[in-house]
Amino acid sequence: MKSKERETPHEATKLLASVMSEEELKELSYSETIEKATASISRFPLIPVRGVPLMNYIANSWDSIWAFRPDPSDLLIATYPKAGTTWTQEIVDLLFNNGDAEACRRAPTPIRSPFLEIVSPPPIPSGLDALKTMDPPRIIKTHLPFQLVPTGFWENKCKVIYVARNAKDNMVSYFYFDCMNLTQPEPGPWEGYLPKFMHGELSWGSWYDHVKGYWLERQKKNILYLFYEDMKENPRREVERIMRYLDLSVSDEVISRIVELTSFKNMKENPMANYSCVPTPVFDQSISPFMRKGEVGDWRNHFTPEQLKTFDEDYEKQMKDVNIPFRDNI
Ligand code: PPS
Repeated sequence: MKSKERETPHEATKLLASVMSEEELKELSYSETIEKATASISRFPLIPVRGVPLMNYIANSWDSIWAFRPDPSDLLIATYPKAGTTWTQEIVDLLFNNGDAEACRRAPTPIRSPFLEIVSPPPIPSGLDALKTMDPPRIIKTHLPFQLVPTGFWENKCKVIYVARNAKDNMVSYFYFDCMNLTQPEPGPWEGYLPKFMHGELSWGSWYDHVKGYWLERQKKNILYLFYEDMKENPRREVERIMRYLDLSVSDEVISRIVELTSFKNMKENPMANYSCVPTPVFDQSISPFMRKGEVGDWRNHFTPEQLKTFDEDYEKQMKDVNIPFRDNI
């Protein structure tokens, strides 16, 4: 796929290259790279990749993303956006580090656990750039639907954790995220956002196809399929489930510590987990915090009775071919 971005270096990049050497650019912290890229930040348009709308930077780098070869020891955490990715990344990092809170404060989430397909204006490192600097086993995040996951993950029999969240809360969370993430397409008003979600027009496409794609392959591909609502209801049980899937064994005391460290309150206050590493020109947390509410059932505060009827009727149609045990209250 060709684009203007690919052929012509950004004005901001050219400017940077004229004032900073490559070595100096490499020394920048993650937050500093974003600050440097501010002039190139905008609400990026979506371009379909095999029918799935993705941010133009991702679509323009698709060939190299698709060609990514993981190590068999790498772990993939896959989600539709806003389904509990960051929470799961933190739990897994703590499990790998035997509940050592300090070790898990070594860097912000996107550095500890790179986002496979993300590509942003330079000098912000892409997910692939970040992965190149790390030795396996790596904890890799993706929002790609099942059919767009690079085939190396399946060929190498990598472990994959999928987290699904009920459609209504997922959509509410995504709406607020699209308001504050100034690289995502303009969400517009809530009433207009609903049909976009229902028609799969948001970044990373259809929620319905996403949750179904992984569900249908979970047994064949040994995917651990988790639900956000189960994690809220009984975090200890779900942390233990993740531990067993990863063939790890940590003490009961460590499990308790991990549950505590990954509570919504603690993660909201943890600068290495709350995305305060992403400066305001990208994540404007004064519009809506990344760690917003962390609840099940907030959708009740947003849907009118009319919207609920339309949504539920459409949901029945779109989900009639599967029986995924979603719960929108606990
Ligand atoms: S992203 O941008 O796609 O990676 O976002 P993601 O991390 O998947 O989802 C963000 C939502 O998850 C909530 N969250 C949590 N809920 C409960 N407990 C913990 N520890 C936790 N950490 C993150 C976060 O608040 C977002 O949901 P909403 O409903 O918007 O609050």
